[in-house]
Amino acid sequence: CGIVGYIGTNEASGILLEGLRKLEYRGYDSAGIATVLEGEIHCVRAKGKLHNLEEKLAGETNPARLGIAHTRWATHGRPEEYNAHPHMDMAKRIAVIQNGIIENYRELREELKRRGCEFRSDTDTEVIPHLIAEELGKAETVADEPLMEAVRQVVQKLQGAFAIAVICADYSDELIVARQQAPVVLGFGQGEFYCASDTPALIPYTRAILTLENGELARMTPLGVEIYSFEGQRLKKAPRTLDVNPVMVEKQGFKHFMLKEIYEQPGVVRACLEAYFDGDWTAADAAIDKPPTHLGLPPDLFANLQQIEIVACGTSWHAGLVGKYLLEQLAGVTTTVHYASECRYAPPPIAPNTLIIGVTQSGETADTLAALEMEKKRRSGFDQNPELLPRLLGITNRPESSLGNLVASIIDTHAGIEIGVAATKTFVAQVMAFYALAIDLTYRRQAKSPEQLEQMLVGLRQLPAHMELVLESQERYIEELAHDFAETQDFIFLGRGINFPIALEGALKLKEISYIHAEGYPAGEMKHGPIALLDAKVPVVTIAMPGSVFEKVLSNAQEARARDARLIGVTPMDEQDAADTFDTLIPVPHIDEMLSPILTVIPLQLLAYHIAARRGLDVDQPRNLAKSVTVE
Ligand code: G6P
Repeated sequence: CGIVGYIGTNEASGILLEGLRKLEYRGYDSAGIATVLEGEIHCVRAKGKLHNLEEKLAGETNPARLGIAHTRWATHGRPEEYNAHPHMDMAKRIAVIQNGIIENYRELREELKRRGCEFRSDTDTEVIPHLIAEELGKAETVADEPLMEAVRQVVQKLQGAFAIAVICADYSDELIVARQQAPVVLGFGQGEFYCASDTPALIPYTRAILTLENGELARMTPLGVEIYSFEGQRLKKAPRTLDVNPVMVEKQGFKHFMLKEIYEQPGVVRACLEAYFDGDWTAADAAIDKPPTHLGLPPDLFANLQQIEIVACGTSWHAGLVGKYLLEQLAGVTTTVHYASECRYAPPPIAPNTLIIGVTQSGETADTLAALEMEKKRRSGFDQNPELLPRLLGITNRPESSLGNLVASIIDTHAGIEIGVAATKTFVAQVMAFYALAIDLTYRRQAKSPEQLEQMLVGLRQLPAHMELVLESQERYIEELAHDFAETQDFIFLGRGINFPIALEGALKLKEISYIHAEGYPAGEMKHGPIALLDAKVPVVTIAMPGSVFEKVLSNAQEARARDARLIGVTPMDEQDAADTFDTLIPVPHIDEMLSPILTVIPLQLLAYHIAARRGLDVDQPRNLAKSVTVE
């Protein structure tokens, strides 16, 4: 979910809506806005995308100078208008927006009901305005700052991870914000102040930013901002200047952002090559100890390195799987890849000299941040045994994100802003970061000869041209091919070795945007289960690239063929065995197997895109998903 708040001298509603537009990547099930207008709370909410709320507000003049707004990704309660934020108390004097999950809401709700409270939504959030209303009754008689005091009392009763913003009709020049484990930043203008889940909502208005920490409250008035701890202690804090430029993001003639972003991938790979690698490195440079990479990472990150743990979610988890392959097969470092949501509650035993890598394009995914925080916490305090201390590295497209604050070292993936909810160019950039990291480590550990490394670098430099070729030669064809799957209900994607994660990614892309059921499987495992699903109605997309498992994959494809499945092969054009095996070929250039994921993923992205576009679906904002999931 995304939250935004404003207090100052200008009309709040326009600023709040603009803020929501910038935060829509956090969810778009419903949206709402509440302002304090003539001593009343004026609250408007709408189900669905933000434009539904905008339509409801069109034509309305609202001079209010204090307000809050929210865009929701449903957790508790269906995405209906009555569950949309802001939520209010019974007397409709207090409005609250929340990002996070209140874990003890059931008991709080029961207690409130027993005291006569009536609930209007199924959300966990609604307990908050009711509790504040109760506390306010008490605080008004004892405290100097009753609203702030009431919110302070309430946040101490809440369990879970949350960020809230609160307004009250009786306090028309106060906005109260609180944070516990969910991000919220404050923005400082001239006599006007803002809060938001993330900086993009603030950048059009101010660069003076203060990140609220866990267990902190802010009382914002037109005169300034006061920060307190949940215990009520006043804290001294100063804003910092954010060093970013607003980026204009347009579709540039493409029908959807996703297609545009697929086409941006060769450029992203070029940017990564430039950022990570020495452009003219040759094997001879190894003699003068000139490394092939310049990632700018501190050497102690890698000292006596024994193993690597990767934590991530979704597409970033798939990039992590490609990373594991590279780190193990090139650099020879044992690597495990964890779903962040699993790892945070069942971490592996603490092992010495372990590099922990969090992969997250947004840098805001709650599970990934929590897994890294958990590692940081459980590994600190080992000053007597420094090999156990945390060594954290982040791979992200947003170095200025919450991830950036959490970890000491970052590899920036240089993909530019990605708007399509289904990740494409950021995935390719994450895989490029893993090539760089693996080559860096391989060089440090002398795990391969300089000549082998030089050969890889030559191959990497050729990637952008090869990618362009795939896009130019295959897009139309794949668009045509998509016609064949108008009625298809299930797809299987097969790959092996370094292309197994690409099979997973191909299936995920299709699920995400076309809502067709798809499974990615290691080709050799198909016979142990998914083969039971196969018949003439189930297409099997197989990635078959010459290398260590080429013939094996072709044999696995034959097993599917024997069950009447339609076989689609992503494979080089001039491989006769492959041409004989597959019913339909999507050719890609010949390339070193180790580098092939960057090419083989493109046809799968295009296939998912064209099937979804043909079905007339909302490719850039598919149902039920959010670009960045900031709740657990
Ligand atoms: C959401 C998005 C996915 C993304 C995942 C992880 O589920 O819909 O496309 O892969 O989050 O996001 P991250 O920002 O951590 O890479």
